[in-house]
Amino acid sequence: MDRLLWGCAHDGSQRVRSASKGDMMGTSGKEVFFDSDSLIVSKTNLKGHLTYMNDVFLDIAGYQAEELVGKPHNVIRHPDMPRCVFKLLWDEVQRGREVFAYVVNITKSGDYYWVIAHVTPSFGLDGSIVGYHSTRRVPNPKTVRDTIIPLYRELSAIETSHSSRKEGLEASYEKLLSILAEKDLGYDEFVAHLMLAA
Ligand SMILES: Cc1cc2nc3c(=O)[nH]c(=O)nc-3n(C[C@H](O)[C@H](O)[C@H](O)COP(=O)(O)O)c2cc1C
Repeated sequence: MDRLLWGCAHDGSQRVRSASKGDMMGTSGKEVFFDSDSLIVSKTNLKGHLTYMNDVFLDIAGYQAEELVGKPHNVIRHPDMPRCVFKLLWDEVQRGREVFAYVVNITKSGDYYWVIAHVTPSFGLDGSIVGYHSTRRVPNPKTVRDTIIPLYRELSAIETSHSSRKEGLEASYEKLLSILAEKDLGYDEFVAHLMLAA
C-alpha cells in the first residue's frame, strides 16, 4: 500500500494532490491529499445536513457548495468506514461532547482521503445544541496504516458478516468496546494516545 506521500507539502497552486492508485480497505479509487497546514471544515444542522463547507472541503471532495448545502453529511461517506465509528461520533456529540475520529471520506469522483476529525456540538445562548461543527487535519500516515486500517477492516468485516444491519452494528460496536477494554482505554484516550504518538 503506497501511502508514503501522505501529507507532503506541495506548491500552493494545486491544493489537492494525488498519489499512486491503491486500495483503502478493498475499494477502488486513488488516495488524494490535502496540505498538512490546511483544515477541512464543515458545519451541519441538528440532523447532520450540511450548512457550511470551506474551500478546502470543496476542493478535495470535488463539489461546488450549491451541490452540498442541505445534503446529509453522508454524501462523502466512504463505504469502507465502519458504521460503529459514526454511531460513537453521533452518541458523543448529541450528548454535548466533542469527539476525535479517524475517517476516510470519498470524493465525488470516487477517490478517497483520510482525515483526523474533531467534531463538536455548537451551542445556542440558552445552552442547547443548535448544530455541529467539524475540523479535519491530515492524520499521521503510519497511524492510519498500522492501527486504523487494520482496526476498521476488522470492524467492517464484523458488520458485513451479519445479514441484519442492526445486529452487525451492535456486534462491531461491542468489538470496538472490547478492544478498548483490553487496552484499558476509553475511546477518547485511545485516539489521544494515537495522536500524541504520531
Ligand atoms: C459535524 C459532522 C461532521 C461529519 N463529518 C463526516 C465526514 O467527514 N464523513 C462522514 O462520512 N461522515 C461524517 N459525519 C457523519 C455523518 O453524519 C453520517 O453519520 C455518516 O456519514 C454515516 O452515514 P450513514 O449512517 O448514512 O451510513 C459527520 C457528522 C457531523 C455531525
